Amino acid sequence: MSTEQEKQVSDTLARLDAAASAGDVEAIRVEALGKAGWISALMKTLGKMTPEERQSEGPRIQGIRARVADAIEAKKTALEAAELEARLATETLDLTLPAPSVPKGSVHPVSQVMDELSEIFADLGFSVATGPEIEDDWYNFTALNMPESHPARAMHDTFYFGDNHRAPNGGKMLLRTHTSPVQIRTMIAEGAPLRIIAPGRVYRSDSDATHTPMFHQVEGLVIDRDIHLGHLKWTLETFLKAFFETDDIVLRLRPSYFPFTEPSVEVDVGFAIENGKRVLGGSGDAPGHGWMELLGSGMVNRRVIAFAGLDPDEWQGFAFGVGVDRLAMLKYGMDDLRAFFDGDARWLSHYGFSGLDQPTLSGGVGAKA
Ligand code: DAH
Repeated sequence: MSTEQEKQVSDTLARLDAAASAGDVEAIRVEALGKAGWISALMKTLGKMTPEERQSEGPRIQGIRARVADAIEAKKTALEAAELEARLATETLDLTLPAPSVPKGSVHPVSQVMDELSEIFADLGFSVATGPEIEDDWYNFTALNMPESHPARAMHDTFYFGDNHRAPNGGKMLLRTHTSPVQIRTMIAEGAPLRIIAPGRVYRSDSDATHTPMFHQVEGLVIDRDIHLGHLKWTLETFLKAFFETDDIVLRLRPSYFPFTEPSVEVDVGFAIENGKRVLGGSGDAPGHGWMELLGSGMVNRRVIAFAGLDPDEWQGFAFGVGVDRLAMLKYGMDDLRAFFDGDARWLSHYGFSGLDQPTLSGGVGAKA
C-alpha cells in the first residue's frame, strides 16, 4: 500500500475514533465512501488497470474500503449505545414515589349505579346479559309485540338507519330505544328458566333537562314456571330497599299499558318532602307525601314468550325496565341529566366515585370514599 493511502486510512480511523456525534461520523463517511470520496476515487482507478494489476490492486483497495466501512459501522453502533445509556441514565423511574395526594379520575355515577345494580341482583341469582346497541326492528319492536303499525312505535322517537343498511331479515336497522330487545335475545339464546338484568345504553331523539338522546336503562327479566305478580313486587321491593339503603320503601303498583307485558304496571315509590327536598319513604298517600313514578313492569306477554321461541303455556315471567340515570339522580341528588354527558372534570370529581370503592352488599352498595 502506498504510504499516502496508508496515511489516509490511519488518519480516517483516528478521526473516527475521536468522533463525538453521528454527524461527525456521517461527515467522515461521505469524505471516504461518498460519491466524491477518496475511497470511491480509488475504486474507480481499478477500471483503468491491466487485468494483472487489477488482480493484486483489487483485493487491496477492497480491503481498504472494508476496513474503513467496518470502522464506520462500529463507531455508529458505539455512539448509539452510548446515547441510549445516557438517556436511560436521565430517564430513571423512581418506583418509591408515593401516589399523588389527590386521586386522579373517578368512576362515573352511571357506572357506579350499574355496578350497584349488578351486585344487588347477583345476590338474588340474576346474571348480567347484554345485546347490541345497533338493533333491527324485529328485536326492538316486532318481537316485543309491537308490529309495524303499532302506535307505541311512534312514541319511541327512534333513530333509524338509512334504507341501505338493512338487517339480514330485511328489517330496518335502528339504535335500540330500550333495553327490552335483550329480553328476546336472551330467551332465544338461553331458553328458560332465566333470571337476568340487562343494563346498557339506549337512544331516542329527545333532548331537554331530563332527556338526552342517549341514556341508560336496566332491564330485568325472570322466566320460570308459575311466576306471578307477587314475585315481581317482592323483587322490586327488595331491589329498591338495597339500592336506596333503607327499609322504608313503599311501592304502589298502578295499572298501565306496555305491549310486551300483560298485565302491565307502573311502579311508584312513596316520598315525603323534607326541607323542600323529596326524600324516599312512607306512603305517598300520607298527608304531605306523594308518589313518584319510578319504573315500568309487568307479566311478560304470552305473545312475547312465543316470539322468543318458548311455550307460553309452560313458561311465565315478569319484566321491568328502569332508567339508570334517573336512579342515579334520585340516589345521589343531581338535578340536570345533561351534566352526566358533558365530561366536565369538576362535575366528575364532585359526583364521581373512587375506583377502589367497589359496591358490595356487606359494605353498603353506595359506600362513598
Ligand atoms: N321498555 C320500556 C321503555 O323503555 C320500559 C319497560 C316497561 C320495560 C315495562 C319492561 C317492562 O321490561 O316490563 O319505556
